[in-house]
Amino acid sequence: MYNSVAPLRVDFKTVSRMSAPSLKDAFGREISYLRLSVTDRCDLRCAYCMAEDMKFLPKRDVLSLEELEFLAAAFIDRGVKKIRLTGGEPLVRRDIMSLINRLGARFEANELEELTITTNATQLERFAGDLFAAGVRRVNVSLDTLDDENFFRLTRRRQLGAVIRGIDAAQRAGLKVKINTVALKDTNQSEIPAMIEWAHGRDMTLTLIEVMPLGEIEQDRFDQYLPLSAVSDDLKSRWTLEPLEMKTGGPARYWRIIETGGVLGMITPLTNNFCAGCNRVRVTCTGEIYMCLGHGDKLDLRAALRGPNPTQTLNELLDVAMRRKPERHEFEISKPGAEPAVARHMSVTGG
Ligand code: GTP
Ligand code: 5AD
Ligand code: SF4
Repeated sequence: MYNSVAPLRVDFKTVSRMSAPSLKDAFGREISYLRLSVTDRCDLRCAYCMAEDMKFLPKRDVLSLEELEFLAAAFIDRGVKKIRLTGGEPLVRRDIMSLINRLGARFEANELEELTITTNATQLERFAGDLFAAGVRRVNVSLDTLDDENFFRLTRRRQLGAVIRGIDAAQRAGLKVKINTVALKDTNQSEIPAMIEWAHGRDMTLTLIEVMPLGEIEQDRFDQYLPLSAVSDDLKSRWTLEPLEMKTGGPARYWRIIETGGVLGMITPLTNNFCAGCNRVRVTCTGEIYMCLGHGDKLDLRAALRGPNPTQTLNELLDVAMRRKPERHEFEISKPGAEPAVARHMSVTGG
């Protein structure tokens, strides 16, 4: 059981909070967006994200839900306005709704501008109503294909039906759904226009993502990588793309496709670096803070959380993290056989 890990040494409810300055890094960027991974586990095995025989973390290393809430509160106290729960797959974490309900109360109290999740949607049918009731208004769903066999090849699981039912349930519950599609050479390349039409027909934004070289996987990244500059050229030969000023707080840039009437996002960590506008940090389910997705540097917040005087120690560590946040990621996939930019898999930080 996830939340039966080491007993807490502090009664978090009685710890008094200092009011502390907002989080600003050495390049003047304000950090207002926390991506909090609640588990490294997942019920899918997407070929670009995980190896088939992933070794997951022992449960004792994983923060309890109370510890995750305490961490989130420390970030809120330092000016974080948006929290996205990620995984692995956040909805496979046992009793996850209790954390979402407690963070949702922060949203209801206007301490947070947005509480949201990135999910593979396999469990969304069951959770959609509760998520909306908790204060979640928008979810991002990772979906790379609408073809059953392709879904199986990509995720190594037969769950497309559950994902579609999850999306249906989310929309019925009033959640805004954004589809995230990693663009993959040959694998889903030819499906991209049809996926966009499908998403727009259901009033959903679809965001394409360039595959990033994170972690060893069975396949060569070079064989997966499809630059979005090429996809965009192809789409412009079919449709009229009008750039939008729209922002969602993440790294996507958005276009309206005149013919479909819908919105297309593109996340281009390789062909068009967006780090100058970075507003986020990531915390893993073991309490490690990664200041950048593309770097290995991290700090251990768990020891601070479980030690004496957690509020003060955490704040000091957050100040160190701000000083150490790098200016940008350096991803390149230019030849076959290259090493990943960082050894850690995407599922450790949840993207
Ligand atoms: P919105 O709130 O809708 O803007 O979502 P988001 O793009 O912030 O979050 P989501 O979880 O949907 O992430 C989509 C993709 O963007 C994932 O593949 C992430 O890994 C990637 N991404 C998010 N932030 C960063 C970043 O700082 N650097 C890089 N390289 N990729 C990022
Ligand atoms: N490169 C780009 N995106 C990835 N994701 C997982 N692994 C990778 C990768 N190597 C995406 C998922 C999900 C988001 C959190 O990250 O598809 O949409
Ligand atoms: Fe699971 Fe998301 Fe990784 Fe796919 S990309 S294996 S759904 S964590």
